[in-house]
Amino acid sequence: MMENRHGKLRTRVLAMPKDTNAKGNIFGGWIMSQIDIAGALTTNDIDAGNVVTVAVNSLKFKKAVEVGDALSCYGKIINVGNTSIQTQIEVFAERVVDHKEISVHVTSAVITYVCVDKNGNKRAVNKDNDY
Ligand SMILES: CC(C)(COP(=O)(O)OP(=O)(O)OC[C@H]1O[C@@H](n2cnc3c(N)ncnc32)[C@H](O)[C@@H]1OP(=O)(O)O)[C@@H](O)C(=O)NCCC(=O)NCCS
Repeated sequence: MMENRHGKLRTRVLAMPKDTNAKGNIFGGWIMSQIDIAGALTTNDIDAGNVVTVAVNSLKFKKAVEVGDALSCYGKIINVGNTSIQTQIEVFAERVVDHKEISVHVTSAVITYVCVDKNGNKRAVNKDNDY
Protein backbone atom coordinates (compact mmCIF):
# COMPACT_ATOMS: atom_id res chain seq x y z
CA MET A 1 0.00 0.00 0.00
CA MET A 2 1.25 3.50 -0.89
CA GLU A 3 2.87 5.25 2.08
CA ASN A 4 4.39 8.70 2.60
CA ARG A 5 5.07 11.02 5.53
CA HIS A 6 1.31 11.50 5.94
CA GLY A 7 0.76 7.79 6.43
CA LYS A 8 -0.71 5.13 4.20
CA LEU A 9 -3.16 5.68 1.38
CA ARG A 10 -6.54 4.70 2.89
CA THR A 11 -9.08 5.74 0.25
CA ARG A 12 -9.00 7.04 -3.32
CA VAL A 13 -12.25 8.05 -4.95
CA LEU A 14 -13.41 10.19 -7.87
CA ALA A 15 -15.32 13.38 -7.01
CA MET A 16 -18.53 13.27 -9.06
CA PRO A 17 -21.12 15.93 -10.05
CA LYS A 18 -23.60 14.41 -7.55
CA ASP A 19 -21.17 15.40 -4.75
CA THR A 20 -21.31 19.16 -5.45
CA ASN A 21 -22.75 22.00 -3.38
CA ALA A 22 -24.85 24.87 -4.71
CA LYS A 23 -21.70 26.68 -5.92
CA GLY A 24 -20.53 23.73 -7.96
CA ASN A 25 -17.65 22.85 -5.67
CA ILE A 26 -17.45 19.49 -3.99
CA PHE A 27 -19.59 19.45 -0.84
CA GLY A 28 -17.62 19.61 2.43
CA GLY A 29 -19.81 16.94 4.01
CA TRP A 30 -18.86 14.47 1.28
CA ILE A 31 -15.16 15.17 1.92
CA MET A 32 -15.73 14.71 5.67
CA SER A 33 -17.37 11.37 5.02
CA GLN A 34 -14.30 10.22 3.02
CA ILE A 35 -12.09 11.39 5.88
CA ASP A 36 -14.15 9.47 8.45
CA ILE A 37 -13.88 6.29 6.38
CA ALA A 38 -10.12 6.80 6.01
CA GLY A 39 -9.71 7.39 9.76
CA ALA A 40 -11.65 4.25 10.65
CA LEU A 41 -9.52 2.22 8.21
CA THR A 42 -6.39 3.72 9.80
CA THR A 43 -7.34 2.15 13.16
CA ASN A 44 -6.82 -1.25 11.47
CA ASP A 45 -3.08 -0.59 11.82
CA ILE A 46 -3.37 -1.80 15.41
CA ASP A 47 -6.12 -4.31 14.65
CA ALA A 48 -8.52 -2.21 16.72
CA GLY A 49 -11.68 -4.12 15.79
CA ASN A 50 -14.99 -2.26 16.02
CA VAL A 51 -14.60 1.47 16.56
CA VAL A 52 -16.96 4.46 16.58
CA THR A 53 -16.10 8.07 15.86
CA VAL A 54 -16.14 10.08 19.08
CA ALA A 55 -14.76 13.43 17.89
CA VAL A 56 -13.52 15.46 14.99
CA ASN A 57 -10.82 17.35 16.88
CA SER A 58 -9.76 19.53 13.99
CA LEU A 59 -10.59 19.92 10.36
CA LYS A 60 -9.44 22.50 7.86
CA PHE A 61 -10.56 22.79 4.26
CA LYS A 62 -7.48 24.41 2.74
CA LYS A 63 -8.47 24.36 -0.94
CA ALA A 64 -11.60 23.53 -2.91
CA VAL A 65 -12.09 20.10 -4.46
CA GLU A 66 -13.33 20.02 -8.06
CA VAL A 67 -15.51 17.59 -10.00
CA GLY A 68 -13.24 15.03 -11.64
CA ASP A 69 -10.55 15.20 -8.94
CA ALA A 70 -9.28 11.92 -7.56
CA LEU A 71 -9.45 12.40 -3.81
CA SER A 72 -6.79 10.50 -1.87
CA CYS A 73 -6.91 10.26 1.93
CA TYR A 74 -3.70 9.36 3.77
CA GLY A 75 -3.90 8.41 7.42
CA LYS A 76 -1.74 7.60 10.40
CA ILE A 77 -2.32 6.97 14.09
CA ILE A 78 -0.97 9.81 16.24
CA ASN A 79 -2.06 8.67 19.70
CA VAL A 80 -3.38 5.58 21.44
CA GLY A 81 -5.16 6.04 24.78
CA ASN A 82 -6.95 3.60 27.07
CA THR A 83 -10.00 3.20 24.84
CA SER A 84 -9.35 5.77 22.13
CA ILE A 85 -7.25 6.01 18.97
CA GLN A 86 -6.48 9.38 17.43
CA THR A 87 -5.78 9.61 13.71
CA GLN A 88 -4.46 12.30 11.42
CA ILE A 89 -5.84 12.41 7.90
CA GLU A 90 -4.34 14.43 5.03
CA VAL A 91 -6.36 14.74 1.86
CA PHE A 92 -4.98 15.39 -1.63
CA ALA A 93 -6.88 16.15 -4.84
CA GLU A 94 -5.19 14.88 -7.95
CA ARG A 95 -6.16 16.56 -11.21
CA VAL A 96 -4.73 17.15 -14.67
CA VAL A 97 -3.79 20.76 -15.47
CA ASP A 98 -2.12 21.62 -18.80
CA HIS A 99 -1.59 17.91 -19.52
CA LYS A 100 0.23 17.41 -16.20
CA GLU A 101 -1.11 15.65 -13.12
CA ILE A 102 -0.88 17.82 -10.02
CA SER A 103 -1.64 16.97 -6.40
CA VAL A 104 -3.25 19.66 -4.23
CA HIS A 105 -3.28 19.37 -0.44
CA VAL A 106 -6.96 20.15 0.16
CA THR A 107 -7.83 19.14 3.73
CA SER A 108 -6.26 18.20 7.08
CA ALA A 109 -8.11 16.57 9.95
CA VAL A 110 -7.61 14.90 13.31
CA ILE A 111 -10.31 12.39 14.24
CA THR A 112 -10.65 10.25 17.36
CA TYR A 113 -12.23 6.78 17.50
CA VAL A 114 -13.23 4.69 20.51
CA CYS A 115 -13.04 0.89 20.58
CA VAL A 116 -16.42 -0.63 21.35
CA ASP A 117 -17.75 -4.09 22.15
CA LYS A 118 -20.72 -5.71 20.47
CA ASN A 119 -23.09 -3.73 22.70
CA GLY A 120 -21.51 -0.41 21.73
CA ASN A 121 -19.80 0.02 25.10
CA LYS A 122 -16.25 1.34 25.14
CA ARG A 123 -13.49 -1.19 25.73
CA ALA A 124 -9.71 -1.07 26.14
CA VAL A 125 -7.50 -0.75 23.07
CA ASN A 126 -5.36 -3.79 22.39
CA LYS A 127 -1.96 -2.30 23.22
CA ASP A 128 0.02 -5.32 22.09
CA ASN A 129 -0.01 -4.02 18.56
CA ASP A 130 2.57 -1.46 17.44
CA TYR A 131 1.67 1.46 15.20
C1 LIG B 1 -17.88 6.75 21.90
C2 LIG B 1 -18.58 6.38 23.21
C3 LIG B 1 -18.72 4.86 23.29
C4 LIG B 1 -17.68 6.87 24.32
O1 LIG B 1 -18.30 6.60 25.55
P1 LIG B 1 -18.09 7.64 26.78
O2 LIG B 1 -18.48 6.91 28.03
O3 LIG B 1 -18.76 8.90 26.44
O4 LIG B 1 -16.51 7.78 26.73
P2 LIG B 1 -15.50 8.76 27.46
O5 LIG B 1 -15.99 10.14 27.64
O6 LIG B 1 -14.99 8.05 28.66
O7 LIG B 1 -14.33 8.79 26.35
C5 LIG B 1 -13.77 7.60 25.84
C6 LIG B 1 -12.46 7.94 25.21
O8 LIG B 1 -12.68 8.91 24.18
C7 LIG B 1 -11.89 10.06 24.44
N1 LIG B 1 -12.63 11.24 24.02
C8 LIG B 1 -13.88 11.60 24.40
N2 LIG B 1 -14.20 12.78 23.84
C9 LIG B 1 -13.12 13.16 23.11
C10 LIG B 1 -12.82 14.30 22.31
N3 LIG B 1 -13.70 15.30 22.16
N4 LIG B 1 -11.62 14.35 21.71
C11 LIG B 1 -10.70 13.36 21.85
N5 LIG B 1 -10.94 12.26 22.62
C12 LIG B 1 -12.12 12.17 23.22
C13 LIG B 1 -11.65 10.07 25.94
O9 LIG B 1 -10.50 10.84 26.25
C14 LIG B 1 -11.47 8.59 26.19
O10 LIG B 1 -10.19 8.19 25.75
P3 LIG B 1 -9.22 7.19 26.61
O11 LIG B 1 -10.07 6.07 27.17
O12 LIG B 1 -8.25 6.67 25.59
O13 LIG B 1 -8.57 8.01 27.67
C15 LIG B 1 -20.01 7.04 23.29
O14 LIG B 1 -19.83 8.42 23.50
C16 LIG B 1 -20.80 6.81 22.02
O15 LIG B 1 -21.34 5.72 21.79
N6 LIG B 1 -20.89 7.84 21.16
C17 LIG B 1 -21.58 7.70 19.86
C18 LIG B 1 -20.60 7.25 18.78
C19 LIG B 1 -21.21 7.36 17.41
O16 LIG B 1 -22.37 7.04 17.20
N7 LIG B 1 -20.40 7.85 16.44
C20 LIG B 1 -20.87 8.14 15.12
C21 LIG B 1 -21.00 6.97 14.23
S1 LIG B 1 -19.59 5.89 14.20
